[in-house]
Amino acid sequence: MQHEYKSNYLSHVIKIILVLVVVGVVGVAVRAMVLPKSFGEFGHYRGDAIQDEINRPNRHGTNASCLVCHPYIREMHLAGVHSTVSCEFCHGPVADHVKNGKVTNKLPKKEGKEIKRLCLRCHNQIIRARPKESIKMISMPQHLEQKHVRTDHNCNQCHNVHAPLMWVNEAKAMVGVGEETK
Ligand code: HEC
Ligand code: HEC
Ligand code: HEC
Ligand code: HEC
Repeated sequence: MQHEYKSNYLSHVIKIILVLVVVGVVGVAVRAMVLPKSFGEFGHYRGDAIQDEINRPNRHGTNASCLVCHPYIREMHLAGVHSTVSCEFCHGPVADHVKNGKVTNKLPKKEGKEIKRLCLRCHNQIIRARPKESIKMISMPQHLEQKHVRTDHNCNQCHNVHAPLMWVNEAKAMVGVGEETK
């Protein structure tokens, strides 16, 4: 009785080992077939990825890349509190607009509710992780309630998007209240 049991166990063990060996061999073969050539050249990744990234055309310029054709907006932008904010953050990459010095497509200009959403991406009090000392935060609709206007007012009705305190300062100067810093 005992003898029979023993030999049965052995045949099971051999079957399992066989299956493992086959899976292992197939696995190694498939790995060799699908691995990109440059894998492992520098580390545990595809070596060619570096050259691929280098070859990718630049999509973003700097604010200087807008200067040539939009000098008026840029001057206003630089004179205001948004001088450190990138044009492309709000308008999209220059590559979608200009190729070889020629305009190919119009960059989108945010309108209506999109403007509010855009502003609140940086200025929303709800974003707890943002240091309050670096960017002034507001909460909505309280900001508009404090100004005693309807809460469907849009940000650019009071703030020039390119120089947000420009109109505020002009209005304050008109009624003789002290100006903001810029
Ligand atoms: C080679 C000149 C040139 C450069 C460089 C350029 N623009 Fe323009 N841009 C134009 C012209 C011309 C128009 C008007 C296109 C039209 O009306 O069809 C325009 C239109 C726009 C508009 C849409 C205006 C509207 O009334 O709808 C935006 C926004 C804009 N540009 C932003 C930018 C930004 C941001 C940059 C830099 C990243 C930039 N442009 C760089 C020439 C340029
Ligand atoms: C904080 C976001 C923001 C930044 C930064 C920004 N823009 Fe705009 N821009 C807008 C919005 C929103 C509009 C459309 C609504 C409006 O003009 O009130 C606009 C309008 C424009 C227009 C259309 C003309 C006009 O006066 O309506 C041009 C051109 C333009 N921007 C270019 C630029 C350039 C160039 C820069 C960088 C120097 C820049 N913008 C930076 C948000 C921005
Ligand atoms: C990419 C981030 C970003 C976006 C988007 C943005 N801002 Fe700003 N904003 C800033 C920074 C940075 C400053 C300068 C630091 C500060 O004063 O809070 C600033 C300053 C301001 C100020 C002056 C605050 C003060 O009293 O010093 C106002 C007002 C303002 N932004 C309104 C707007 C409006 C309206 C929009 C939408 C058209 C907008 N911002 C979109 C980053 C942004
Ligand atoms: C009815 C006019 C009005 C509208 C609409 C408005 N604001 Fe303001 N906002 C002001 C005035 C005025 C100030 C100047 C600071 C003050 O006196 O409270 C200000 C200040 C700010 C500040 C600086 C806050 C601080 O702590 O100094 C930010 C940021 C701001 N606004 C963003 C926005 C955004 C974003 C929107 C749209 C969701 C918006 N505002 C809509 C009038 C307005």
